[in-house]
Amino acid sequence: MSFTRRKVLAGLLGLGVVGLGAGGVRYWLGRPENVATHDYELIAAPLDVELVPGHMTTAWAYGGQAPGLELRCRQGERLRVRFINQLDVSTTIHWHGIRLPLAMDGVPYVSQLPVLPGEYFDYDFITPDAGSYWYHPHLGSSEQLGRGLVGPLIVEEREPSGFAHERTLCLKSWHLDEQGAFTAFSVPRDAARGGTPGRLSTINGVHAPTLDLPAGEVVRLRVLNLDNTLTYRLNLPGADVRIYALDGNPVAPRPLGKEYWLGPGMRIDLALRVPAAGIELPLRNGPLRLATLRGQDSNAAPGEWPAALPANPVSEPDLEGAQTLRFNFEWTATLAENLPAGAKASYWQINGKAWDIADKNCAEKPIASLELGKSYIFELRNMAQYQHPIHLHGLSFKVLSSNRHSVIPYFTDTYLLDKNEVARIALVADNPGVWMFHCHVIDHMETGLMAAIEVV
Ligand code: C2O
Ligand code: CU
Ligand code: CU
Repeated sequence: MSFTRRKVLAGLLGLGVVGLGAGGVRYWLGRPENVATHDYELIAAPLDVELVPGHMTTAWAYGGQAPGLELRCRQGERLRVRFINQLDVSTTIHWHGIRLPLAMDGVPYVSQLPVLPGEYFDYDFITPDAGSYWYHPHLGSSEQLGRGLVGPLIVEEREPSGFAHERTLCLKSWHLDEQGAFTAFSVPRDAARGGTPGRLSTINGVHAPTLDLPAGEVVRLRVLNLDNTLTYRLNLPGADVRIYALDGNPVAPRPLGKEYWLGPGMRIDLALRVPAAGIELPLRNGPLRLATLRGQDSNAAPGEWPAALPANPVSEPDLEGAQTLRFNFEWTATLAENLPAGAKASYWQINGKAWDIADKNCAEKPIASLELGKSYIFELRNMAQYQHPIHLHGLSFKVLSSNRHSVIPYFTDTYLLDKNEVARIALVADNPGVWMFHCHVIDHMETGLMAAIEVV
């Protein structure tokens, strides 16, 4: 594999500052009028934001906002992003959930070299699937995501979806104290348990916002869990609300029900019938209010429930012919105090192996090798008392069954594996590459719970 690294050309900076958005300066190169592509110039840089009222926090922002600028493109089109690193640390961008070529996947020493301070990297790929996706670094992750380098990537359906209104809600709980100073993003005793939680819950960077929505209409709410650690137990008591897609992939519309557990990295597209003007509904995490949704006068006629969204072109696994592979997710007792000096703590393993994020050759030791074009069933076994949102790069998989929950089979890129759960998922290994397979609780990932799966 050969990697290229490009320095920022003199004079490049400052190009493409097109307008001011609510969240600050937005950057992109103009969208060519008659070409069916979107082009963005996306800058990662420090940004002072007021997350705790009356206090400034120096976050790390994409496109002048934290969470980052919403990138949009259309299904089947090219997305071209010139990413410019104005941070003083190296970074990359990973496009979570997008089935793309390995060279665009943003994993350091697997897909590309780290983008050093002052350098840029051109990401350029086709987005085959419509839905709600996101982007984030794959380097120094607990700190980089923790400081705000997370952003939504919305791939619009080829044809209008039937939703006249939509909102993107990025959930993130910040690791901040009362004065707005960052606290530790990863604490060993938490990394060895459920992960290190933040303290200030926000939606689009605002704590407990009130969101005005057009009364009587059906609005698509794209809810993205961009948090390092938290599983949100989403519920909207009293609301007429249906699930339309999970992690980007459409499902047959069904009521949200009592609550939906949205693990780190996961997304859910809901359709909400907005209540009458002035009526408020809470959007909650368990009993905690995340936001207030409020009906606002609108002169439009009441909207209809849109039809189900069209399925994405994901290959259907051949379950008869599939080979079954087992993956055990285990807790290991190698606590930091027992480690030789200088060794990296590892608390988690997949099939007896802990991934070492400092080892640049890890990708040469894949935990499994899949044959291009073949179908596989993975049996995922959680041997621990903590949940793991298990995520796979480069491929979508179908959730088949679980010994803890009833499953309506659906395609996804992240499955929340409950404590002591055994689940079966299936996929067609149709994208060649070395694909990361990891828990999306970031400090689990950084303390061993990651592996590489090759497709050759
Ligand atoms: Cu959200 Cu390895 O990714
Ligand atoms: Cu990913
Ligand atoms: Cu985990």
